[in-house]
Amino acid sequence: DQLPAHVLVLFGATGDLAARKLFPGLYRLAAAGRMPEEYAVIGSGRHSPGTDAEFRDQLREALAESVDDLDDEVADDLLARVRFQTSDADDGADLAAAVRDAEDRLGGDDVRRLVYLSVPPAAMEPMIAMLGREGLTDRARVVVEKPFGLDLESSRSLDAALKDVVAEEQVFRIDHFLGKEAVQNILALRFANGLFEPAWDRRSIASVQIDVPETLAMEGRGSFYESTGCLRDMVSTHLSQLLGFIALEEPAELTAQAVRDAKSAVFEAVRPLDASRAVYGQYDGYRDEDDVDADSDVETFVALEMYVDNERWRGVPFYLRTGKALAETRRTITLRFREAAGSLFGDPAALAAQPPNDLVLELTDDVQVRVDVRAKRPGPDLALVEGSFHLALADDVPAEVSDPLEAYERLLLDVMRGDQTFFTRSDEVDRLWQVVQPLLDERPPVHPYEQGSWGPQAALDLAEGGWRLR
Ligand code: BG6
Repeated sequence: DQLPAHVLVLFGATGDLAARKLFPGLYRLAAAGRMPEEYAVIGSGRHSPGTDAEFRDQLREALAESVDDLDDEVADDLLARVRFQTSDADDGADLAAAVRDAEDRLGGDDVRRLVYLSVPPAAMEPMIAMLGREGLTDRARVVVEKPFGLDLESSRSLDAALKDVVAEEQVFRIDHFLGKEAVQNILALRFANGLFEPAWDRRSIASVQIDVPETLAMEGRGSFYESTGCLRDMVSTHLSQLLGFIALEEPAELTAQAVRDAKSAVFEAVRPLDASRAVYGQYDGYRDEDDVDADSDVETFVALEMYVDNERWRGVPFYLRTGKALAETRRTITLRFREAAGSLFGDPAALAAQPPNDLVLELTDDVQVRVDVRAKRPGPDLALVEGSFHLALADDVPAEVSDPLEAYERLLLDVMRGDQTFFTRSDEVDRLWQVVQPLLDERPPVHPYEQGSWGPQAALDLAEGGWRLR
């Protein structure tokens, strides 16, 4: 379907996210013919990047870095629609004039506004108030970047500021993990097959691991990390959202309301965290990073245990782990099955000594699912050997029927289509802050860990039966 004409206003347009994800995302949507026929992009921020021509040159460089085989024609067309207008929370008059001017050129009052707020948490509220004052929220969809506040109180205040100027239907709280192909595929695997769902509960599953180690360290994001930390950057956002999709009941229909109701019900049932079952770490050398305090206590690693106290999951630990400067970059969800109840191959304790029976979802760009099983060792005796089923979706689905988009561009497209299914609703955010608040009130001690390791020792011991990745 043809999208209506759009004016996109990107705050933080000279920042890292804009350069690495947002402009490349717009480019790829344009290259795939998925942008509206008529649109304009207005970058904004407090500091001007120079003339519009200079801004476009910087963007072209950013595109060249992120996009292989940049198509000059597509890039030229995109950049020709881009300009920059300075603004700040106290003064948005010039920006408002620029938006109206772009709209007049595109067709007046039917033009949609997409306002993307890629700004630090502290700047968010004043910016939102400015948008309201300048009337920029009319006909607008407002995209808000995580972490949606810094604790329960500030998140409620941010939410109130949003609700002062827009309705919930206009708010798109972006968590780009929900734009990942593999995450959306969890819904297909679970609810379009008869195989998995009957085993998807506490009767069959002993524990779940949601493991997102990263090798990268700060890469210039020291000041962001100092104010955010790993819990807010990754756990109360990305990892909790993954848990939501793993744990939810089947939504009544594929609508934003039904999917978000189902996910929200999971978060309602999540038990607030127990600081004694959480391990914080900080990699050696973090304090020497640019813009990091010499005696910073900020965590760059978190491992913790979560429980979903409902009929399906009662008593099943969900282990969440993520951190910077670790041994590998992976996004791996492991559902570990309980031991078989029978004794044909020895009692459960003897079986437990075998490699585990795991269902593993690798959330890579090419969706991969793997089930590790015990099979019969070829030969005259009925002995066991490790085996596995392995599904590599990219190998199985012919290119003509696949239409891959990366997370950010998929979500940008959803905003333009007005589809909130894969965006976080205000009640989810509120509940997740309630869940993590105990760790903000009583910070677990921060253990040092070596770069390139799997984090502090205390975290290795947290997961019963051990982490799958190690
Ligand atoms: C971002 C976090 O939201 O997600 C980063 O701020 C993290 O700290 C990144 O590295 C991971 O995203 P992806 O898509 O590379 O897995």
